[in-house]
Amino acid sequence: MIADTHGPRARSRGALMRVALAAVMLLLVWQGSVGTIQSSNAPAGSQASREVLRHGRDVYMANCAVCHGETGDGNGMAAHMFRIRPRDFRRGLLKFRSTPSGSLPTDEDLLQTVTQGIRWTGMVGRSDLPEADRKAVVQYLKTFSPRFASERRTLPVALPPAPPKSGDLVVEGRRLYRDADCAKCHGDRGIGDGPSAPGMKDDWGWPIRPSDLTWRPLKRGSAPAEIYLTIATGLSGTPMPSYGDSLDSQEIWALVSYLESLVSIEHRLSPLRHLGEEQAGWMVVRMHGMMGPGMMGPDMMRRMPMMR
Ligand code: HEC
Ligand code: HEC
Repeated sequence: MIADTHGPRARSRGALMRVALAAVMLLLVWQGSVGTIQSSNAPAGSQASREVLRHGRDVYMANCAVCHGETGDGNGMAAHMFRIRPRDFRRGLLKFRSTPSGSLPTDEDLLQTVTQGIRWTGMVGRSDLPEADRKAVVQYLKTFSPRFASERRTLPVALPPAPPKSGDLVVEGRRLYRDADCAKCHGDRGIGDGPSAPGMKDDWGWPIRPSDLTWRPLKRGSAPAEIYLTIATGLSGTPMPSYGDSLDSQEIWALVSYLESLVSIEHRLSPLRHLGEEQAGWMVVRMHGMMGPGMMGPDMMRRMPMMR
């Protein structure tokens, strides 16, 4: 996915077009939108209080539904603008977790995603929202999938400290990269062009590509610990497997070291830059904000009583 986005400039024309289109579209939808507001769909066994869920729902309708849809189906009115689609929350499959493969993320994992975003995608980090809002929306997100009410929480995987940097570690990592078949998807040079890459789909049926591992940030960020977690826990809903059972922590750290050695200085982009689809993501967030808080949420009904 990073392969065709590293010229942020090369893509900016297309991005501008989409920005313009989206502006028109958002205005049209705003003019004509009549939403039906359902009562809270909180599961009976939910731990969050009704008050937190109600607040989370307001935050969601005001900031998230435009992409993720009012029902959490990933089909909000701006969803079609993005090549990397907003998540459908209903199956409870979350990519960026600290928990083992197949398990649900922790609240902290979700909070981190909401706060720092998913780089290169429309999912921009919302550290600008008050922490109480971000925490409440995390509780509300969990009501979209029955998994959160029915499954036991799992503990995060252990994250032992990184061994000191050394050439040996990188050599060991290179060997593991080959032996663990990373190259099948990510390619011999790590640029995402392995033999299994073409035609790959994610679990929601959307096309997906193995990442170009020679750029930073990656989707999850640039910190070695984040890359460690990706390898140890896998990315649920995508072909990226978990290696937590087949590799020990030293081996995973060796892989992280090797992956770091693939990144040239020019490929280490400033974290402040808007990358890939982030610009379009911010555009949607700002347009939405400008039209008033809660434009599709309960506030809209309050402001426009005649629509009831
Ligand atoms: C401009 C569109 C957009 C908006 C607005 C948006 N998202 Fe997203 N979101 C995305 C996209 C695109 C993805 C999928 C990225 C990927 O799979 O790589 C995503 C994915 C996610 C995920 C899945 C993370 C994982 O580990 O799989 C969560 C959780 C999430 N968004 C929460 C939110 C919340 C909460 C809000 C509101 C505060 C929000 N999003 C607003 C576009 C958006
Ligand atoms: C069967 C294919 C497949 C194999 C094998 C595979 N990956 Fe991946 N990997 C993917 C895909 C697809 C993605 C992109 C996920 C996305 O963009 O949501 C990915 C993403 C990643 C990411 C980036 C996560 C981010 O934050 O953007 C890292 C790091 C990674 N893989 C490392 C590895 C390593 C190391 C190995 C071998 C030990 C490996 N992968 C094996 C398919 C694979």
